[in-house]
Amino acid sequence: MIDSNAGVCIISRMQSNLPCIMKTAAAAVSLLIMNACTSISGPSTGSVKQAGFGNTKAGESTELYTLKNANGVVAKVTTYGATLVELHVPDKDGNLADVINGFDSVAGYEGDGNQYFGCTTGRVCNRIAKGKFTLDGTEYTLATNNDPNHLHGGGDKALSKQVWKAAPVDGQAAVVFTLTSPDGEEGYPGNLSMKVTYTLTDADELRIDYQATTDKATPVNLTNHAYFNLGGAGTGTVLDHELTLNADHFTPVDDTLIPTGKIDPVAGTELDFRTAHVIGDRIPDKGATKTEDAESATLGYDHNFVLNGKAGTHRLAARLKDPDSGRVMEIYTDQVAIQFYSGNFLMNQEGKAGKAYPFRGALCLETQHNPDSVNHPDFPSTILRPGQTYRTTTVHRFSAE
Ligand code: GLA
Repeated sequence: MIDSNAGVCIISRMQSNLPCIMKTAAAAVSLLIMNACTSISGPSTGSVKQAGFGNTKAGESTELYTLKNANGVVAKVTTYGATLVELHVPDKDGNLADVINGFDSVAGYEGDGNQYFGCTTGRVCNRIAKGKFTLDGTEYTLATNNDPNHLHGGGDKALSKQVWKAAPVDGQAAVVFTLTSPDGEEGYPGNLSMKVTYTLTDADELRIDYQATTDKATPVNLTNHAYFNLGGAGTGTVLDHELTLNADHFTPVDDTLIPTGKIDPVAGTELDFRTAHVIGDRIPDKGATKTEDAESATLGYDHNFVLNGKAGTHRLAARLKDPDSGRVMEIYTDQVAIQFYSGNFLMNQEGKAGKAYPFRGALCLETQHNPDSVNHPDFPSTILRPGQTYRTTTVHRFSAE
């Protein structure tokens, strides 16, 4: 039976966004807490169609599933990396445009131009310092694929590079992807069984439910790495988009984008998006056009924001608006944090329908736990143990004004 209404639970220690409270709560509460599941999105009555998406270099066939809701909104997802490939949503005049970066077939996703476009990222998304962590007395070593750190689950066997199994959900615009990552894969302990469900609702929401179980303690931090341009993917930059983030705090990082362990207020910094701000207004050197100029974190946004409210409860995380088209995306999540990345490494690569994706031509808003949590005992835990179920849900709600 497909669990298409997976709720809003997430494993976490009792937590708050206030650092002092976090420490007290983390010390006092050693048990992982499962929160009650509630319905957080509208019904889905649309359809699913299946087609081929090409063979991988290794000769595995991949599939593309087209989800369509009652209003004609379309999402396409592929078994390669359980990846969101297309997302067509209306502007203020009702015109649909595809608002995410991607490729026309699996060959593009296996090519050099793919920077985690739309994929399911993990086992642990974002960075783990020097690819090392110690769990229950054992030190584990992971790939350092983002020198000197581990990024987005590692090398060839990262979840984003594997072909998942898929099953459409009867009577809904929904597909369930499943994958079991074997013990030791990419250096992570435990056989990890995962389920990622994409559902398009009739309220123009794309809901992503994640679920995982393990037979050995292991860190888990799954997210989706979609790149959004609400004006339409491949139609210029997102510097004119207006962003609001429901975050009073962020995790400052070192030169290699690893959190220092502090949780600082955004107040008085260019990271204060508590009211809507135009993205390009506060990026230094916003005219820079060379990706190599964006090496420094100060040249663009690539920051982890700690969300206000209690993790494990569904709440608004972000609101993004493209003033020209009027398209608005709201993100709701039960997660601890959100990584806002302003496409600083996009390099004008060619994507779907021959369109190019320029520097800062799209942005990511990745709901997740804080980066490198496995090496920061004061951060909410990302450790999943046998007998526990990891669950988290993120909803992208689209409208126009
Ligand atoms: C994440 C990271 C960025 C970058 C992109 C992929 O968002 O935070 O630094 O690695 O993925 O290019």
